[in-house]
Amino acid sequence: MVEKTDILILNGPNLNMLGVREPDIYGHESLNDVEHMCRDRAQLLKMSIDFRQSNFEGELVTIIQKARDNARGIIINPAAYTHTSVAIQDALKLAELPVVELHLSNPHAREPFRHNSYVSPVAAGIICGFGSFGYILAIDAIARLIDSK
Ligand code: DQA
Repeated sequence: MVEKTDILILNGPNLNMLGVREPDIYGHESLNDVEHMCRDRAQLLKMSIDFRQSNFEGELVTIIQKARDNARGIIINPAAYTHTSVAIQDALKLAELPVVELHLSNPHAREPFRHNSYVSPVAAGIICGFGSFGYILAIDAIARLIDSK
């Protein structure tokens, strides 16, 4: 049997450009910096992580499908697909795992098209507006959900 990863941390389109992309909104840290922060936090909690990013909706769906058997919980920053993707909502439903939705910015304080999320209805909870620190909060939250299962 393949050993499960505890937490899949999945990042959607344009998040590979963190640090360069609108730093006043998304911060100066790169995605690599964020991944290191996540690894440190997960290690402290004795949890393993699989940290991924894709610019492609279908690839995100495939990664979520695989998580059904390979992970115990999902943290997802779906980026722009938050506001458009029925496919990602469907994949998260079929994964049957605890889900934490995560955003660096607070989409509710931004343009109206960012106010709707297709992911929120299938998430246990949402963390937004805390920049990269939100990843730490999300790891703590998902660890609690995994432990209580
Ligand atoms: C985001 C918010 C989304 O509205 C946006 O499209 C992103 C990033 C965030 O982390 O704040 O790409 O998910």
